[in-house]
Amino acid sequence: MENYKVDILISDKDITQRVNQLGKIISASYSDTNKLIVVGLLRGSFMFIADLVRCLDIPVEVDFITVSSYGSEMFSSGNVKILKDLDGDINGHDVLLVEDIVDTGKTLEAVIEMLETRVPNSIKVCALLNKQSRRISNIKADWIGFEIPDEFVVGYGIDYDQRNRNLPYIGKVVK
Ligand code: IMP
Ligand code: MG
Repeated sequence: MENYKVDILISDKDITQRVNQLGKIISASYSDTNKLIVVGLLRGSFMFIADLVRCLDIPVEVDFITVSSYGSEMFSSGNVKILKDLDGDINGHDVLLVEDIVDTGKTLEAVIEMLETRVPNSIKVCALLNKQSRRISNIKADWIGFEIPDEFVVGYGIDYDQRNRNLPYIGKVVK
């Protein structure tokens, strides 16, 4: 693997603070339902969802889905296939999709379209990071942790070629 370094972009302290805020806002928004299922898109969202659900003070189920986009490691092609489906039924439930990064938006667009065929009561999206400048799809996350520039980032669950997921902060890859 080529050499690169990782510069801190968002500190673990800033992440904690923002996840706490998101937890309060999202809890308030779902105060009328007891059918909330928080769905993490693996693997990138595992750390974020673990922290986020701890900041929710409402009844909640947690489930996971793994999709893969075909294509190279630095960008996604927008074609997704399900590698691991949800364990539970979302019919009639309120689904909160938790994603690490919305980049072109094509992954989310495909996942939402697929989940909609299962007739949930609602689908909303909480993304830790948003790269608005790269958007191709007409997809908007309902809640976003941080807007980031068009940089390749790692850490807090997010990988570069499967490495760096364990970093407690978000860093940008510098070659
Ligand atoms: P999209 O379909 O282009 O929105 O791709 C979103 C997915 O691409 C994210 O869930 C990540 O898995 C991956 N991705 C996009 N940008 C980055 C990045 O900067 N670092 C690591 N993975 C990324
Ligand atoms: Mg991902």
